[in-house]
Amino acid sequence: MEFFLDTAEMKEIETGLEWGMVDGVTTNPSLIAKAGKPYLPTVQAIAKLVPGPVSGEVLATEYEEILSQGHRLAKLADNVVVKVPLTPDGLRAVAAFKKEGIRTNVTLCFSATQALLAAKAGAAYISPFVGRLDDVAEEGMELIEQIVTIYQNYEFDTKVLVASVRHPVHIVQAAMLGADVATIPFKVLEQLYKHPLTDAGLDRFLADWKKTGKTFDS
Ligand code: G3P
Repeated sequence: MEFFLDTAEMKEIETGLEWGMVDGVTTNPSLIAKAGKPYLPTVQAIAKLVPGPVSGEVLATEYEEILSQGHRLAKLADNVVVKVPLTPDGLRAVAAFKKEGIRTNVTLCFSATQALLAAKAGAAYISPFVGRLDDVAEEGMELIEQIVTIYQNYEFDTKVLVASVRHPVHIVQAAMLGADVATIPFKVLEQLYKHPLTDAGLDRFLADWKKTGKTFDS
């Protein structure tokens, strides 16, 4: 299972890379706005820093403009994946990008039918938003299960990228279902390491050795 960081904060990306847990990064307009940074230069800087795929989203909603912005994003670096909203114009652009060898990440997916359309259009990634489905009292993970099954049935190449992840249980459930990728906020990545028994156990090991008055070498 691949881990992408869902952020536009360079510090978080640098730390995630140091930890060796970041296979790629996803951004969106909200995340870049939150970081208070300019749009294209931010995607470019992240793509330079991260060896793996970096999703940069178009701001356009009309076909021609999606194509134009997607081309500009794709030209920033070889590892840029063009993120496109799940609309008729968006999926039409996905098919056009596919013919040109430009990889796409179809975002704002909330149903299995939408995921099927994205795969048929030739998306490299589909991004179902599990947290936002949970927010409206639907089971986000049921959608992941449906998409994984449908993609397996027809051997689609489109990767299932679990998005709108809010807590570690989402990661466990996504992994149990065999999702290809989870894109994770930095805070949740930190939480994945945490267990109180690890902290307590480490404290006890160190305290017990300290009581001996000896060092690492003696
Ligand atoms: O990956 C999509 C993500 O950035 C949206 O997350 O928490 O705003 O639903 P959230």
